[in-house]
Amino acid sequence: MRVSKVLVVDDRSTAREGIASLLPACDVAGCLRADANTTLRMAIANGAPFDVVLLDASLAPTAAFVRELVTVGGGVRVLLSTDGEEGAALAVQIGASDVVARPFVAAELAFRVERAASQDLRADKRRPRKSDVLIGTGAWIKELYDRIAMVAATDATVAIFGESGTGKELVARTIHNSSRRHDAPFVVVNCAAIPEALLEDELFGHVRGAFTDATRDRDGLLVAAHTGTLFLDEIGEMPLALQAKLLRVLQSQEFRRIGDDADRQVDVRIITATNRDLDQLVASGAFRQDLFYRINVFPLHLPPLRARPEDVPLLVHHFINKYRVRLGKAIGGIAPAALARFVAYEFPGNVRELENKVHQAMVVAAGPMIVDADVQLPAPGSATSGRSRVDISRPFREVKQEAIDAFEVAYLTDLLRAHHGNLAQAARAAGMDRKNLWSLVERHAIDRTKFKK
Ligand SMILES: Nc1ncnc2c1ncn2[C@@H]1O[C@H](COP(=O)(O)OP(=O)(O)O)[C@@H](O)[C@H]1O
Ligand SMILES: [Mg+2]
Repeated sequence: MRVSKVLVVDDRSTAREGIASLLPACDVAGCLRADANTTLRMAIANGAPFDVVLLDASLAPTAAFVRELVTVGGGVRVLLSTDGEEGAALAVQIGASDVVARPFVAAELAFRVERAASQDLRADKRRPRKSDVLIGTGAWIKELYDRIAMVAATDATVAIFGESGTGKELVARTIHNSSRRHDAPFVVVNCAAIPEALLEDELFGHVRGAFTDATRDRDGLLVAAHTGTLFLDEIGEMPLALQAKLLRVLQSQEFRRIGDDADRQVDVRIITATNRDLDQLVASGAFRQDLFYRINVFPLHLPPLRARPEDVPLLVHHFINKYRVRLGKAIGGIAPAALARFVAYEFPGNVRELENKVHQAMVVAAGPMIVDADVQLPAPGSATSGRSRVDISRPFREVKQEAIDAFEVAYLTDLLRAHHGNLAQAARAAGMDRKNLWSLVERHAIDRTKFKK
């Protein structure tokens, strides 16, 4: 195998020797100052000499610096070394390909250096597949896409937080599909769904004879995910004993099958998800603090759907398109009154619940559109109690229009019910022009006939 050349940029004069002793298989050179000129001169000396630059985070390198280094260094990979937990976020920001924590663990350092050295720069750019499209509007989804793009280009561990149904798994898949690992497996392990006693076997596998039923060697899901991504869903439910083993995987990509007497190595990118408050689990002793730091290097927080009602219409149309094909029903859209009910509802089950409700409505819909009567959602409260909070992150005009629509639907529904669907009578009682009332009822697709006596 080719010897990897490593340039250590660190302002501790002993750093190079220390690292060289940890990387006996590499050719290690040192550079004291993070001054761009010095570093670049060293990086380009004798052609393109370095495979990996190990850069000290405390020197506060910038994205421009890293870009220059990569360009001038002919595709040199930058590995950020850091004392703190915030290192991974910085790595992603500045475009470093990976991060390694100090104090160094020899196996981990060697592994990350070799992996960085063998990374193919050209494979990084890839667009998500169509089925993975994350629907949303406004600033949060733009930021989410930016953060996904940043982290997909690296092997950093990602921790996704959010209530059930907010899209955690979809985000994890999107990261995998946008990463250089996209052709390798994406393996999902739900730590809450697998009985505690079986989880270790599922993840790590066993050797023959490890326990009574172990009649042959069996690889676990970690091996199944080799060169790909392992998605650990509900990580907060992982038993403490397994947490220690997972920590080891994260530190050195090493693990041991049950009953084995030798370690094995894997190359997996780990993405975790949870709807629990990990800080609290750490405080109560149910989750290891060191593991928490390891997985929390690049957190992504997905907001609940009720905090972004502006996404509801888009998602409804997205799922109408999805199920139109599956159900083979020519449903072209949704009436405004029916949509208004979706927008007004709080969706405790988030996008998953919305998806189910759209599906249900399409199953029962008889016409070419989803109408009010097709929608099975708890009745919205009155116009004033329908939504408790006002979302000031969105344009006034939009929010106001939604409030008006919801009010109009509620008012007209009650009005028509009181007058048994009789328009003339209802208009008189409400002090409205009959034609205006008629056009509003039409606009909201309110079915007058259901109020007839
Ligand atoms: N922003 C989104 N755009 C499109 N579909 C979404 C979005 N968020 C969630 N979904 C869909 O909602 C369902 C639940 O999402 P999932 O990722 O399983 O949630 P979680 O893992 O957080 O429980 C899936 O069918 C997913 O495709
Ligand atoms: Mg899930």
